[in-house]
Amino acid sequence: MKAYIETESLILRKIEITDTGNLYRLDSDPLVHKYLGNKPISCMSKAKEYIDYIHMQYDTYGIGRWVTIEKSSGDFIGWSGLKMNFEEEMNGHINYYDIGYRFIPQYWGKGYATESSTAARDYFFDKYPDQKLCGLAEIENLASCRVLEKIGLERKNDFLYTKENVTIAWFEKTR
Ligand SMILES: CC(C)(COP(=O)(O)OP(=O)(O)OC[C@H]1O[C@@H](n2cnc3c(N)ncnc32)[C@H](O)[C@@H]1OP(=O)(O)O)[C@@H](O)C(=O)NCCC(=O)NCCS
Repeated sequence: MKAYIETESLILRKIEITDTGNLYRLDSDPLVHKYLGNKPISCMSKAKEYIDYIHMQYDTYGIGRWVTIEKSSGDFIGWSGLKMNFEEEMNGHINYYDIGYRFIPQYWGKGYATESSTAARDYFFDKYPDQKLCGLAEIENLASCRVLEKIGLERKNDFLYTKENVTIAWFEKTR
C-alpha cells in the first residue's frame, strides 16, 4: 500500500504504534464520539487494538485509515481514509469499502475532512476502478453528511441502525 499521500495542507501516512498516545487523545474525547455511539475509550490498550486492526486492513486489503498530519504545524489531527467493512451488515451491505474520518475538535472547520477524503477517494478509484465506495453518517452529523456529499457520494437512503437506535444516512459512488 502507498504509505504517504501529500495534499495542499495535509500528509496522510500509515499509522504506527508510536501514534498510540495521539489516537487515545482522539478517541477518549466525548465530543468526537457524539455521533459514534457515545462510547469514547478510557484505556490506552483500546487505541493499540485499533492500530492492530488498521494494520490488518493494510495487509489484507491494501487500504486503511491513514494518520492525518497538518503540514503547517506537523500536528497529528486524527485519521481519514478507507476501510473494508467485513464485520457488520449495514443497510443490507456487507464486504463494502467505506470512507471515513475522525479529527480532534481543534482542527474541525478547516476543510480537512474534505481535503483528505478527496485524496482517499481518488486513491480508491485508482486502485479499485470497478468497485463502489460507500460512506455513512448519523443524519444529525451534518458536518459528516456534508463532507460525503462534497466529495461526490450520493445520498441513497436513510435507515434505522437498531443496535444504537439512530438513523443513518447511506452514501455511495461508483467511478
Ligand atoms: C466530521 C468531521 C470529520 C468533519 O471534519 P471537518 O474537517 O470539520 O470537515 P470539513 O471542514 O471538510 O467540512 C465540513 C462541512 O460541513 C459543514 N458543517 C459543519 N458543521 C455543520 C453543521 N452543524 N451544520 C451544517 N453544516 C455543517 C461545514 O460548513 C462544511 O461544509 P462547507 O464546506 O460546505 O461549508 C469532524 O467534525 C469530526 O472529526 N467529527 C467527529 C468524528 C465523526 O463524527 N466522524 C464522522 C463519523 S460518520
